[in-house]
Amino acid sequence: MLNGTEHDALRQNDIVPPHEIINKKVTITIDGNTHVAYQGESVLATLLSMNIRSVSRNDHGVVQGAYCGMGICYCCMVKIDGHNKQRACQRTIEQGMNIDTLSNHFTTLLPVFEKEWRL
Ligand code: FES
Repeated sequence: MLNGTEHDALRQNDIVPPHEIINKKVTITIDGNTHVAYQGESVLATLLSMNIRSVSRNDHGVVQGAYCGMGICYCCMVKIDGHNKQRACQRTIEQGMNIDTLSNHFTTLLPVFEKEWRL
């Protein structure tokens, strides 16, 4: 994961640097770490700009990256502010947002279900 200075430097290579279209930096939390992001940008764009490519964990426990970037494939689901299965490409960054990647409530419960079903 990139620190704030590295992230800002990397974003200057965007086709349209974020400061030209959005002029408001906000603080968010990604996997327990605090980051500066641009309000209004998609959560997926922010994750990718921070070099986070493994975004989601599906119901089979498989880690996956985003595929379509436009809300069709459901490969980018993350936990946002305590709500599981939010599509990162369809949510926009807001001040104080808490994002957990590779989070899947179902797979965290699987060991419990399997243990109970096999008894
Ligand atoms: S990347 Fe396909 S739904 Fe988000």
